[in-house]
Amino acid sequence: PLTATVSDRDHLEVGGCDVTDLVNKFGSPLYILDEESLRIACRQYRDAFKRYYPGEAQVLYASKAWNCLAVCAIATQEGLGIDVATGGELFTALKAGANPSKIYLHGNNKSLSELKLAVEAGCTVVVDNRFEIETLASLKTDLPIRIMMRITPGLDCHTHEYIRTGHIDSKFGFDPNQVEDGFNFISQYPSLSLVGLHAHIGSQIFELQAHQDLGGVMVQWLNKAAQYGVAIAEINVGGGLGIRYNEGDDPPSIDEWVKTVCDGLLQACQAANIPLPKVLAEPGRSLIGSACVTAYTVGSKKTIPGIRTYLSVDGGMSDNPRPITYQSVCRAIVANRMSDPLTETVTIAGKHCESGDILIKDAKLPSTQPGDTLVVMATGAYNYSMSSNYNRLARPAAILVGNGTADLILQRETYEDLIRYDRLPAHLK
Ligand code: LLP
Repeated sequence: PLTATVSDRDHLEVGGCDVTDLVNKFGSPLYILDEESLRIACRQYRDAFKRYYPGEAQVLYASKAWNCLAVCAIATQEGLGIDVATGGELFTALKAGANPSKIYLHGNNKSLSELKLAVEAGCTVVVDNRFEIETLASLKTDLPIRIMMRITPGLDCHTHEYIRTGHIDSKFGFDPNQVEDGFNFISQYPSLSLVGLHAHIGSQIFELQAHQDLGGVMVQWLNKAAQYGVAIAEINVGGGLGIRYNEGDDPPSIDEWVKTVCDGLLQACQAANIPLPKVLAEPGRSLIGSACVTAYTVGSKKTIPGIRTYLSVDGGMSDNPRPITYQSVCRAIVANRMSDPLTETVTIAGKHCESGDILIKDAKLPSTQPGDTLVVMATGAYNYSMSSNYNRLARPAAILVGNGTADLILQRETYEDLIRYDRLPAHLK
């Protein structure tokens, strides 16, 4: 959970820093990342695997949730490997000092140059389809190529349609009917060494059943691989544990999730009488989601009598695209009025030229004034990483807070940055 307190001035403090002071110093909107909270979540995953899995385990940070140098460096310091989905994420992880032997490259359409970068750096490639296997095998290298194979486990779960990946009709991975063919295919290429199987069911999942069942499914495939003479030593169970965005959200704890995953795998291995594989997991949201808040400055307020009050802030769908993309619900507080009574119901609107740019419908807030600091909670995952420059809004700065100090980790973009890659053809000059 967030390291948050309320100061004598009745202000919200995160990581020992007064949020309104931070906004005065670093500007607004501002992503405020609580270092301790991120580190604690890393340790909870690591410690839980130690507690519940007698075999070898490695936690990877699914960096798509928030990929930048500082975040990759923290995950690395905490002993986590990094899951990357593109060459850009891979490049950042390497620059942050991540150990290449603990970096795993994902994706359903990796380019030749992405594959090359990964192989030359010594990372593992999680292969998704036959085309990619052929491309990998065509790389001119003497290096052994470590691969895992992504399989669609055929497990369904209750989450938003856009972020479900475990069902059969998914763009990711080998469907169960193609797996044996996949084993055969891979075995034709001696440069490829298949070390493991991977599955990811989906994201923002609150129920544990699918992850309990996953162990059985993976062990079945592991046995199948053995029939093809492939000795699989690693199982990656993906990520997916949900977090609390709003009152009423009640996700399982990291500890419960890890215990479930381990139980499922241990039982399946015991039943099949096979040795324990090394287990990998790659959580993203549950590591960093709750560790960050976004601070905005309150601006205009419009009341339509009998209908609704719109309270506008200086950011919106460009820095937090989750509400408009997934109809996700989040929670806001006013950082400089922490103990004022919640007397107003307002709809918090972003500043983009789009009616759908609403961060929160019907939020209960204290009476606010322009200039107040509004904080949206739990914005660490898939906010900065999915941010855009829509309407040519510059991306916000991000700071890392802890023990009362704040360090810049992402500089605020400027207008100059916005036109940096614009080019004017001669006839337009
Ligand atoms: N592994 C793989 C292969 C993934 O595709 C993902 C997420 C993860 C791990 C991490 O899942 P997590 O632990 O964060 O649930 N933008 C969406 C979420 C997309 C998830 C994509 N894959 C959102 O904002 O809800």
